[in-house]
Amino acid sequence: MRYLTFALAKGRLAKKSLEILEQIGIYCEQMKDPDTRKLIFVNEELKLKFFLSKASDVPTYVEYGCADIGIVGKDTILEEGRNLYEVADFGIGRCRMCVAGPKSAKELLNHGQLIRVATKYPHIAKDYFYNTKHQTVEIIKLNGSVELAPIVGLSEVIVDIVETGSTLRENGLDVLEEICPLSARMVVNQVSMKMEQERITDIISKLRKAGLIQSGS
Ligand code: PRP
Repeated sequence: MRYLTFALAKGRLAKKSLEILEQIGIYCEQMKDPDTRKLIFVNEELKLKFFLSKASDVPTYVEYGCADIGIVGKDTILEEGRNLYEVADFGIGRCRMCVAGPKSAKELLNHGQLIRVATKYPHIAKDYFYNTKHQTVEIIKLNGSVELAPIVGLSEVIVDIVETGSTLRENGLDVLEEICPLSARMVVNQVSMKMEQERITDIISKLRKAGLIQSGS
């Protein structure tokens, strides 16, 4: 039997994903060592491999077949736009992708004005403004602390993740429009879905039976 390989987004999401998988008997003892700097782990008995990568690289490893299965946020899946099957919603890491800014910027979103939009998610922002709102905007790519942009005058609004809303609140910004809900999803390589159909559908049905994935996924 060949190894079934999982790509996990390193950090908190990997830990939570493994806790969920463990409940259906998918586990890896090697990964529990908190001090390990290893990136790849094997469960010989179950013929499983797990590797940890940067979240934004998970869809890439899965599309190219280095991993059969990936667990990663919907924000990353949308931004990376890879050819994958999204097969289940883990319902963890729930948050929203939003357009945010000062209240005064709200009217700039209603009149098709050329405004600047700062974001870590240029593809999501572009798709939303161009294809949903039909508003031509200038997208400015940032790498973090995006809330700064409208405060210091880099952009009128931002497109960013809102979880509790406290970063916006503490910086005098508001959610102006909601783009979509986000949570961690399981994605599968398109060839693996055929070649390893039995093992993969077995995992999905066990997750569903145990109530570990959201209904409808
Ligand atoms: C994310 C996001 C917001 C914040 C939202 O940032 O980009 O800044 O969390 O969370 P809240 O609604 O609960 O305040 P992250 O912590 O990933 O850091 P970053 O700003 O460097 O991207």
